[in-house]
Amino acid sequence: MTISESYVFGEQHRTEQHRLLARAHDPMTSDRLASTGVTDGWDCLDVGCGGGSIALWLAERVAPTGTVLATDIRPGPLESRPGLRVATHDVAVDPLPEAGFDLIVARLVLRHLPKRQQVLNKLVRMLKPGGWLQVDEFDTSYEPLLLAPDEPAARLYEKFLAAKEFVMRSSGVDPKCGRRIAAAMREAGLVGIDPQPYVQVRRPGSADLELLANHTRQLRDGLLAAGMSEDELDELRDLVRAPDFRASSSVMYSVHGRKVHA
Ligand SMILES: C[S@@+](CC[C@H](N)C(=O)[O-])C[C@H]1O[C@@H](n2cnc3c(N)ncnc32)[C@H](O)[C@@H]1O
Repeated sequence: MTISESYVFGEQHRTEQHRLLARAHDPMTSDRLASTGVTDGWDCLDVGCGGGSIALWLAERVAPTGTVLATDIRPGPLESRPGLRVATHDVAVDPLPEAGFDLIVARLVLRHLPKRQQVLNKLVRMLKPGGWLQVDEFDTSYEPLLLAPDEPAARLYEKFLAAKEFVMRSSGVDPKCGRRIAAAMREAGLVGIDPQPYVQVRRPGSADLELLANHTRQLRDGLLAAGMSEDELDELRDLVRAPDFRASSSVMYSVHGRKVHA
């Protein structure tokens, strides 16, 4: 299977993207997962697992008798672990077992799917009664610049964010997905909906900022089509390494919901 044509990120620089996503967000995602009580014997699903760092974390957590299914349109590669199975799977169209999982996690995948509500409904059907769904999603409508070396640098950063939003929207991404997830999960029939927002400081060397530098490469063609020049992309990569650069990250919403007991 090849990467879905509608998925905005291509194959190039994907490994680096997944490494940076893990560095930036795994502590939060795994803390939230731990708060569900996930433990030995649970059956878990990581949808859109990417590089698989969360699936690997879950596999350690549910060992020795639990299982983890890690799925993606292009998964991994993942190291093997007892109880861990990796499958190539498009969550928007391919079937999965119903009522099969104690815990499902989906980080930064639903924002890419135009039929998000239908996919959420499907994920809920895949939960066992009492099972947990954790969805972690950005709202990129808030990510203000806080400090730049000078005014042209500030304008360059703003221009990059606007161009990136254009590219994402053109590929069907919902930039405000994060703020809409709690209501969408309730609509899907879950109870105990618990949204938690997380914000970080983007500073030189931080994984969240290195992700943006990686986006200048991953989304290069789209960013050029959106009006940025090669020189500006080069300058942007320098800017995010400037010692006096600071910005707020976008907001990551981590949302829990549970399927009612039968
Ligand atoms: C931004 S990455 C996030 C990866 C991982 N969940 C993480 O947070 O590190 C989005 C992932 O969703 C996957 N994806 C996109 N569309 C998908 C679909 N229709 N079904 C399954 N996975 C999909 C991509 O291949 C990619 O690995």
